[in-house]
Amino acid sequence: MKIPTSLLAALVLGGLASGSGQLPTLKQAAQTRGVLIGGAVGSTLFDDLDPDYAATVGREFSVVVSENGMKWKALEGSPNEFVYGLADATVAWAAQHGVQVRGHTLIWHDSVPAWVYQLKTPAELRAAMQNHITQVMTHFGNRVLIWDVVNEAISDAPGHPLRANSPFALAGPDYIDAAFRWAHAANPAAKLYYNDYGAEALNGKSDAIYALVRGMQSRGVPISGVGFQAHLDANFSVKDSGMLENLKRFHDLGLDVQLTEVDVTLPAGGATPANLARQAQVYGDLMNACLGVKCSAFVMWGVNDAGSWRAGGKPLIFDDDYARKPAYGAVLGALQGH
Ligand code: XIL
Repeated sequence: MKIPTSLLAALVLGGLASGSGQLPTLKQAAQTRGVLIGGAVGSTLFDDLDPDYAATVGREFSVVVSENGMKWKALEGSPNEFVYGLADATVAWAAQHGVQVRGHTLIWHDSVPAWVYQLKTPAELRAAMQNHITQVMTHFGNRVLIWDVVNEAISDAPGHPLRANSPFALAGPDYIDAAFRWAHAANPAAKLYYNDYGAEALNGKSDAIYALVRGMQSRGVPISGVGFQAHLDANFSVKDSGMLENLKRFHDLGLDVQLTEVDVTLPAGGATPANLARQAQVYGDLMNACLGVKCSAFVMWGVNDAGSWRAGGKPLIFDDDYARKPAYGAVLGALQGH
């Protein structure tokens, strides 16, 4: 009997049959390379009607991020009243499954409750920021040792100054330094990251972030690394963008590099074999760039396409039904050095 190639590929990727025995899972392959691999998760992790979600995360990931559950609005919707429901559940699930947690995110202009916008003086705002950072990091303690302290603070405007449309601009130009110092004081064991999008390539924005973090280092601010979100599309070229060189210059500052929100939307035309192959190429190249600077984590922004914040672009490595896409094979292949 002739087995269709597509079925054969599915069987091989499923680990049911292969010439050299079972394929490792992503987390097994990543462990041998000293990198965490994972994704952002939501409340579907606890949905009994969608058991494949948690099964996929448990099988393949060594790190999770709560997609929205640790944002300021989720944790402190009213001043100094903290609600940890989904965040605690996610952290407990991770501990039970031997999975690490990336904390996301302490200071971000988005997902901020209205009361923060009503603070009118820099001193009031800074007190609220310090309290938020201190309370949240103290609550999680050593259960969360990786934190995005400041997210998306650099604007896309020409010259890439600090973002003006942020409630935190009122806190003064040194609010980023201050946030990292407060975070370090709250838990000196935690690794502290600056995280942003649109800075994967060698470009004006990555230049601005480079200048920012170099300045922080020169002022003795406790920053451990930089997170590159990597919300991309399948036309992105790791090679032509100078991404590896870009990541290297941050690594050369002694900073840790992580890819923190990877997703790669398909080109127009959708899930054709050619488009899926192009997407797979980008995923494999991203993992290779990450490994090229000894990155410590490769985190995707979701689990399966249907649950993605950009579901229309089918940007993840598992399809709507949690089947492994070609991009899964490319990530695994890169981890295995293929
Ligand atoms: C997104 C979530 O995926 C959405 O569900 C939510 O509505 C908005 O935030 N950069 C970030 C993430 O740092 O926190 C964002 O997550 C995506 C862009």
